Amino acid sequence: MSISPVPQPLPRIARFERYGFGLFLHWGLYSLLGQGEWVQHFRQMSVSEYERLAEDFRAKEFDAAAIARLAREAGARYVVFTTRHHDGFSLYDTRGLSDFDAPHSAAGRDLVAEFVEACRSEGLSPFLYHTTLDWRWNSADCDERQFNDYLDYVNASVEILCRNYGEIGGLWFDGNWSRKQADWQEDRLYAMIRKHQPEAMIINNTGMGARGRTGHPELDSTTFEQDLPVAPNRAGWPKYLAGEMCETMNGHWGVGNEDFRFKSPAEVIEHLCACRRIGANYLLNVGPTASGRIPDYEAAVLRLAGQWIQRTGRVIYDARPLETGCVGRDFVLQGDGAYYYFAFDLSRRGDAHVVTRGGGNGLRPVEGLPRRIRAARWIDNGETARFAQSPDAALFVLHCLGYDYGSDLVVRVAELIPED
Ligand code: GLC
Repeated sequence: MSISPVPQPLPRIARFERYGFGLFLHWGLYSLLGQGEWVQHFRQMSVSEYERLAEDFRAKEFDAAAIARLAREAGARYVVFTTRHHDGFSLYDTRGLSDFDAPHSAAGRDLVAEFVEACRSEGLSPFLYHTTLDWRWNSADCDERQFNDYLDYVNASVEILCRNYGEIGGLWFDGNWSRKQADWQEDRLYAMIRKHQPEAMIINNTGMGARGRTGHPELDSTTFEQDLPVAPNRAGWPKYLAGEMCETMNGHWGVGNEDFRFKSPAEVIEHLCACRRIGANYLLNVGPTASGRIPDYEAAVLRLAGQWIQRTGRVIYDARPLETGCVGRDFVLQGDGAYYYFAFDLSRRGDAHVVTRGGGNGLRPVEGLPRRIRAARWIDNGETARFAQSPDAALFVLHCLGYDYGSDLVVRVAELIPED
């Protein structure tokens, strides 16, 4: 039985995969209310009541340059910014299409223009989120004629983004899940994007009910909303697709002022690693405040993630998955002529009177390394790692020491140098 070949990624898709880690920003009029981005829907606010929020949307603390610096400090390599969400308010100048946009609001400026400029200044790739669900158009339930008029409006809107903001790293759509049987005229939309932005990634979120599902041939990545991604079997696929998992820092995409259920820095580090285990990107969301500032806790978590990435030699970006058998959540990546063992759940070494967590250290077997190993070291401190292996390298055992008292990296990475 012939094995179907796995397609090679297009250059833009291979580049996207090497980005590895992205920052997602959900910000708009809903942020003024501090109850998530669906507040208009859940409070059943009328369009006229909701649109009055634009009079208070001043963006006083929206400092795109500071946000881009924070994203770079976090180790993110791309940023996805909500240019228009389901409420229909555009953070960009819709150039006559609608006056429900930031230049017509109290902010009085094109916030997307500031965002893309700031990303480029920090060497980050700007991605633009654009909704395809619009409550002002009743797009999920309107009749066919109205829906086709709506799609013309979406096309014209996205074309403004594709023609007026320089080179865009990607368009990130969200909302097709709201009208499942519809003809979304994706051929037209994606052909227009390819015409103006031939190297942009095109991503269309399949939502929590269809994680990892493939779709239109022009799409470049599958999406895993709010759950860890699973490795696809790309054998026989007509096109290599990347994978991307997006998740909130607490339970809300748009800022939720009463949501205290935040992820810890440790969870963020573990989820980043879990995505990279299968070569998927990790897109972590922050909801800026009403005035446009990144909240303190989220900023701190982002900085800690960046410190972890720095300490582990940035292997998180370029190393690729390697099929091996490891214990628990551990896994191996390969790159630069070496293998990288990711060890979860190690504990601190130290006096029993002071170390609170036991277990987790000791011997960890790896099956299936392609080559024998001649040396191993922990990337964070260069400490030599002891190991044993079978003559044919089929079995390798790494002696996983815990952390020196005073440190705990959550996930520790060992570089395994193969024999020549
Ligand atoms: C879901 C939510 C939407 C959010 C998106 C982020 O589609 O409905 O509000 O922007 O997830 O992926």
